[in-house]
Amino acid sequence: MVMNFVCFCLASVLVLSLGVSSEPVEDKQALLAFLSQTKHENRVQWNSSTSACDWVGVECDANRSFVYTLRLPGVGLVGSIPPNTVGRLNQLRVLSLRANRLSGPIPADFSNLTLLRSLYLQYNEFTGPFPPSLTRLTRLIRLDISSNNFTGPIPFAVNNLTQLTRLFLQNNKFSGSLPTINSDGLDDFNVSNNNLNGSIPGSFSKFPESSFAGNLGLCGGPLPPCNQFFPSPAPSPSEPIPPTTSSRKSRKLSTGAIIGIAVGSAIVALLLLLVLILCLCKRTRRPPKQQKPFTPMTTRDVPSAEAGTSSSKDETIGGTSTEGERNKLVFFEGGIYSFDLEDLLRASAEVLGKGSVGTSYKAVLEEGTTVVVKRLKDVAVSKREFEMQMEMVGKITHENLVPLRAFYYAIDEKLLVYDFMHDGSLSALLHGKLLCFISSLFRA
Ligand SMILES: *[C@@H]1O[C@H](CO)[C@@H](O)[C@H](O)[C@H]1NC(C)=O
Ligand SMILES: *[C@@H]1O[C@H](CO)[C@@H](O)[C@H](O)[C@H]1NC(C)=O
Ligand SMILES: *[C@@H]1O[C@H](CO)[C@@H](O)[C@H](O)[C@H]1NC(C)=O
Ligand SMILES: *[C@@H]1O[C@H](CO)[C@@H](O)[C@H](O)[C@H]1NC(C)=O
Ligand SMILES: *[C@@H]1O[C@H](CO)[C@@H](O)[C@H](O)[C@H]1NC(C)=O
Ligand SMILES: *[C@@H]1O[C@H](CO)[C@@H](O)[C@H](O)[C@H]1NC(C)=O
Ligand SMILES: *[C@@H]1O[C@H](CO)[C@@H](O)[C@H](O)[C@H]1NC(C)=O
Repeated sequence: MVMNFVCFCLASVLVLSLGVSSEPVEDKQALLAFLSQTKHENRVQWNSSTSACDWVGVECDANRSFVYTLRLPGVGLVGSIPPNTVGRLNQLRVLSLRANRLSGPIPADFSNLTLLRSLYLQYNEFTGPFPPSLTRLTRLIRLDISSNNFTGPIPFAVNNLTQLTRLFLQNNKFSGSLPTINSDGLDDFNVSNNNLNGSIPGSFSKFPESSFAGNLGLCGGPLPPCNQFFPSPAPSPSEPIPPTTSSRKSRKLSTGAIIGIAVGSAIVALLLLLVLILCLCKRTRRPPKQQKPFTPMTTRDVPSAEAGTSSSKDETIGGTSTEGERNKLVFFEGGIYSFDLEDLLRASAEVLGKGSVGTSYKAVLEEGTTVVVKRLKDVAVSKREFEMQMEMVGKITHENLVPLRAFYYAIDEKLLVYDFMHDGSLSALLHGKLLCFISSLFRA
């Protein structure tokens, strides 16, 4: 490990000392064309007399011969992406233009970004159909085009993206039915708040309800079944049901219906009983004064009563959870982050400070986002308790206080995620105070 690092350093020094002031000439032209043809708020200043590899938001390969990543989140880019600009960066691995005011369709020449692994275009004002150019980027691992104004159907050709682990399409205006997408490799999937209708293909049943919420016409899978008491229709609803049925068939159907209704009522009664028992248990366990139930943005966390139904494939990260559920980062409303625990663990971290309640790190995510992560130590409370306290802390908003954006709970690991602020001293002070407050809550 250390040797590798030393070798790498030596190699870098060698490259530099050989006077390689090389730079990606063509990529540089493409970048300059992009910035000059796109309206922006002058928050990005690229000096054309320096190497593009040293520009803000740009990273090159080790040889400085290609641009590998372009990250310009929240820099006030306005209008459509001009063709023949970004699309020319054909060695690009990561492209993040999220949280700008980019509009119009995605240029067709994005299909030339064939090496792209991560594409983040969320929180813009893009319109048009699902960009056809994207279904050719077969190496994509993460695709996030959520919170835009895309319309029309989600194409079956999404199946071309065989490497995808994350597909975020929520908060758009996609319509029609969900195509059957091979979801074996997908860890995160979200199509909530679109105009989709029809039944959810069976391959999606492993995702939580919140992945599909806000589509008035969707049914089945984690959502309520398409027809009460009867199983949801087969994945291919286009198959017409024969209009004429023989008397024998219809008699059979009616017995089936009776059995269905009986079984259905029994299940409903059981569920009601379960809910009643749960409510009673909760009431006896909790103190009388109650806040309203915790509603985090990521609701992968299923209530313990339903935990048994979650797929056995879901491994628990960071310790044994008694409820057998997969622990996830829980985000509070109001943030614009879209990363997960894996991203956080992969992020390059730098220790900011150590305190009595734990260590804080500055974490730079692969995507370019920087956050502060606090790793709490000696906090021995139940998940429920922790979540309740976090809900309280998450609600505290004050102009001088760095807001808590997310938290993570596992038996042997508790993390808090904050915005990263450059005025380190002030925020550290406030963090310190807040953390003391938090720890006092847990020790009380
Ligand atoms: C661009 O970089 C050159 C060389 O480093 C420097 O002399 C010049 O002042 C810079 N221009 C701007 C506008 O910063
Ligand atoms: C850098 O360039 C050399 C020669 O052009 C090549 O052999 C090497 O593989 C390149 N390294 C990288 C990391 O691209
Ligand atoms: C992709 O790049 C090739 C050359 O590298 C070019 O001929 C082609 O027009 C580009 N495709 C699009 C859609 O711009
Ligand atoms: C989407 O379009 C509607 C009008 O069609 C507009 O009011 C809304 O602001 C747009 N949303 C975004 C995120 O651009
Ligand atoms: C699927 O990907 C292949 C390249 O692997 C491409 O030739 C094809 O056009 C893509 N299909 C669609 C519908 O984009
Ligand atoms: C879904 O909506 C589309 C229009 O967006 C409509 O044509 C289609 O019939 C609907 N399908 C179902 C199953 O409701
Ligand atoms: C899906 O997106 C919606 C809207 O942003 C969000 O409320 C929900 O928690 C998300 N669900 C998952 C599983 O990511």
